[in-house]
Amino acid sequence: MHQDEQKALVANEAVHVLLKHETAFQILGIGTGSTVNFFIEALAPHAKSFKGVVSSSQASTERLLQKGFTVLDANNVVSLDVYIDGADEINPQGVMLKGGGGALTREKIVASMAKVFICICDSSKQVALLGQFPLPIEVIPLASQKVTQYLEKLGGVVRLRKSKTDASQNFVTDNAGWILDVSGLKITDPKALEMELNQIPGVICNGIFAQNKAQLLIVSSQHGVETIQF
Ligand code: 5RP
Repeated sequence: MHQDEQKALVANEAVHVLLKHETAFQILGIGTGSTVNFFIEALAPHAKSFKGVVSSSQASTERLLQKGFTVLDANNVVSLDVYIDGADEINPQGVMLKGGGGALTREKIVASMAKVFICICDSSKQVALLGQFPLPIEVIPLASQKVTQYLEKLGGVVRLRKSKTDASQNFVTDNAGWILDVSGLKITDPKALEMELNQIPGVICNGIFAQNKAQLLIVSSQHGVETIQF
């Protein structure tokens, strides 16, 4: 099965889960990325069945508005019933690495507002130990050199993310931050590393989702779709 077919499979299953709990899941948080795009597409016919959604990026917001969803401002919402998003890696405890699409900060904020985090991905994202995928860290541009030095002392190999459309330009996030992609870190204690990285002056957010881990994983493989509760 092609990877896109696997993404469509988990997207459809997530819609099925949401509709099954439609009365409990009225205000949704929606993530960012290609898997979430499949999910938005699959949920679109039911857009008006929900009170509203809070989006984690400008890209998802545009897509959600196009599909007829009511997009709410996070500041006008007390809490979210559920947050649905993809991941770059997920371990057997439901801890994730995220930010491959550069939306990690808003994703973490919106995830922190939700009672339940449902992760949707294909099985290539399941890992025993986090860190094969370079860890995205969003920084204030002024601090990128200082933060890089700190990360190198931790043993990381740091690459400043470039724009996909113009490699001479840095990638700029929805929050006007830059992204450092860090390889080579040993993420044996994700919660401790998440907290340590948050302490570095100039770091806006890091892509370890240990404090806001998934409660439910909907994952697809060649063999079909599986749901795992953490
Ligand atoms: C964006 C993210 C995405 O959830 C992550 O990159 C997975 O994306 P995809 O579904 O395209 O593989 O964290 O910042």
